[in-house]
Amino acid sequence: MSSPVLPVVVLDDATQAVPLGEALLAGGIDSVEITLRTAAGLEGIRRARAVPGLRVGAGSVLTPAHVDQVVEAGAEFIVCPGLSTAVVSRAREHGVDILPGVATASEVMAAVALGLDEVKLFPAGLLGGPAYIEALSAPFPGMRFVPSGGVSAATLADYLAVPSVRTASGSWMVARDLLARADWARITELSAQALDL
Ligand code: 3PG
Repeated sequence: MSSPVLPVVVLDDATQAVPLGEALLAGGIDSVEITLRTAAGLEGIRRARAVPGLRVGAGSVLTPAHVDQVVEAGAEFIVCPGLSTAVVSRAREHGVDILPGVATASEVMAAVALGLDEVKLFPAGLLGGPAYIEALSAPFPGMRFVPSGGVSAATLADYLAVPSVRTASGSWMVARDLLARADWARITELSAQALDL
């Protein structure tokens, strides 16, 4: 991940993908993770690819079949809640960046064994927040962590202050109530505020 903030989107209406992507870009955020948690997710990925300058990834990818589907829809990177060798292998077959999730040192060791140097840390807030990542990072000097789950505008700076964290992800700037109201101005505002942090 290159951007310091990765929005995690649960889309109920695929036609919102383009205005959403434009709202994020207007706030300075150039990447988005659209999850497969809703029926609209896959079509949302396809539509978001039409937004110039936006890097579109797929989230909540659980199986190799999901990988095939999101790559066909145009996903440029893949995020998983956990670590699956089969999913990592399929993403690599497609040549698409993969960010699997971990929660424990054993899972980080499994990620190292797969040759990964960046993982999602999920659910970061419940696991113990920035202090947990500091502790988990010590034995893995080459590993970068992308905290996700419970990250907010109030805690983002604390996560980004951890040396092994370059990107944090979360849904606060694309919350479902903002999407339900199609409040693109607020999404742009929250995106810009997140980058200012
Ligand atoms: C998720 O997978 O839901 C992400 O980690 C986002 O979590 P959040 O909604 O707590 O930001």
